[in-house]
Amino acid sequence: MKLTILVIGACGQLGSELTRALRKKHGWKNVIAADIHPATDTSQRDGLYLQLDVLNKKKLAYIVAHRGIKHIYHLAAVLSATAEQNPARAWEINMQGLLNVLEVAKDHKVQQLFWPSSIAVFDKHCDIKPSTVYGISKAAGENWCQYYFERYGLDVRSLRYPGLISHRTKPGGGTTDYAVDIFHQAIQRGGYECFLNKETTLPMMYMPDAVNATLALMDAPPANIHIRSAYNIAAMSFSPVELADEIGGHLPGFEMNYCPDFRQAIADNWPKHIDDQNARRDWGWQETYNLETMTADMLAHLNQKELC
Ligand SMILES: NC(=O)c1ccc[n+]([C@@H]2O[C@H](COP(=O)([O-])OP(=O)(O)OC[C@H]3O[C@@H](n4cnc5c(N)ncnc54)[C@H](O)[C@@H]3O)[C@@H](O)[C@H]2O)c1
Repeated sequence: MKLTILVIGACGQLGSELTRALRKKHGWKNVIAADIHPATDTSQRDGLYLQLDVLNKKKLAYIVAHRGIKHIYHLAAVLSATAEQNPARAWEINMQGLLNVLEVAKDHKVQQLFWPSSIAVFDKHCDIKPSTVYGISKAAGENWCQYYFERYGLDVRSLRYPGLISHRTKPGGGTTDYAVDIFHQAIQRGGYECFLNKETTLPMMYMPDAVNATLALMDAPPANIHIRSAYNIAAMSFSPVELADEIGGHLPGFEMNYCPDFRQAIADNWPKHIDDQNARRDWGWQETYNLETMTADMLAHLNQKELC
């Protein structure tokens, strides 16, 4: 099987780690990283890197045709909090970007396409009733993915990620960003001012689990994939105060203040927990990290970076 892979949005929080994992799994030469920005870290510059605006459909089609791309991971998006600042621009990038990728993938007989959705498609009762432009674009995108599968047979697969937590790359403007920022501030300042209130429980996931889920979904035989809109996946749910307590167990004296801003209203509309039994049944999804093990691992990695 020919395996040339294109990752669009490769400089982002997820893209930088997924690109690294795909290169490790499939070989450096088989994975091309692309983003609207110049390459930001050595892991991208070490392999093939292309500057690409996903809204430039002509250039995208050229790359796919001339590089023999067979698998696309389309991660480029404007995230929930940033999208609320400029809804029209977010809609264009999130929606037109996806439509460009779907069309090019269909026309050039791409074998597999991965595109992430989000828990932002839900309201707090877990009904599909998005309350943000980001959530609306993800819900519409899920329908488009299903349409391209049913109408054109495109093997498109998707996950509804919860808030992602990582130590390598800073988050990109989402409502769950506090759960990453808190670790940096805890180590640097011994305290953090949280933009959500203390009781706001949300579904979260540590990046190694998000990467493993993505690889497992894409490795699953097509016959196992029964959902072509997007699969729910879950790992842990916690509130800011629970995360602060956990960090405080490692860093005595850590102090948290709460100063909710416009992101509180977004978080209030999202579910606290996600039912992911379909992913567990269809392709064996199983998380590795919980709040305790994720916190310990984040602090160990960030402390090591501080020492370097
Ligand atoms: N991080 C999370 O908590 C989370 C949760 C649920 C879903 N997701 C989804 O996962 C995907 C990746 O998220 P992320 O956290 O890595 O986001 P991010 O903001 O960190 O990264 C997005 C990347 O896309 C690039 N990009 C933006 N516009 C582009 C364009 N026009 N052309 C090419 N590249 C462009 C940006 O430069 C950036 O490097 C997104 O689709 C996001 O909606 C993320």
